[in-house]
Amino acid sequence: MLIDQTQIQARVEALGAQIAADYGANSDLLLVGVLKGCTMFMMDLARAIDLPLTFDFIAVASYGASTESSGVVRMIKDLETDLAGRHVLIVEDIIDSGLTLAYLRSQLLRRNPASLRICTLLNKPERRKADVPVDYLGFDIPNEFVVGYGLDYAERYRNLPYIGILKPEVYSQ
Ligand code: PRP
Ligand code: MN
Ligand code: MG
Repeated sequence: MLIDQTQIQARVEALGAQIAADYGANSDLLLVGVLKGCTMFMMDLARAIDLPLTFDFIAVASYGASTESSGVVRMIKDLETDLAGRHVLIVEDIIDSGLTLAYLRSQLLRRNPASLRICTLLNKPERRKADVPVDYLGFDIPNEFVVGYGLDYAERYRNLPYIGILKPEVYSQ
């Protein structure tokens, strides 16, 4: 166990309040969740932001069945929403190397949003390869492979209600 349900809930509430205060009621905020890791965080965060907003999802992947990023980011599902003139907040579960978000940011900025910010629940600063500006952060975490609350290892463990460190024997064989 690294971060329990109570800690997650408290941090999500605080982030939601901060986001609501920063954007305000007339921002027509668009949350863009990065599937599939974002799912639990995105749904809890959306409920914690007391503003009229819309949301959409994009799917990219770079990990596959490995604990190491392949470094190659693929887009699997694009957005349905036109970003031009919109205030866009990307919602991620974790920033590790930063390659996923560096790719996404450059792709989405081309679509001329009014603003583009990043909200991530977890951040592993030690592992950064590509620089990405983080506007809203839940927790900085150590360089351990974490699962739960949306985060997977080979598609498993996403449904754990807390964030845990995966035992090395699970992925070493
Ligand atoms: C994971 C995680 C982030 C990304 C972070 O997604 O959810 O999106 O990797 O790693 P990076 O900063 O090194 O790019 P993954 O590609 O495993 O897809 P998933 O969300 O469907 O699990
Ligand atoms: Mn992801
Ligand atoms: Mg994954």
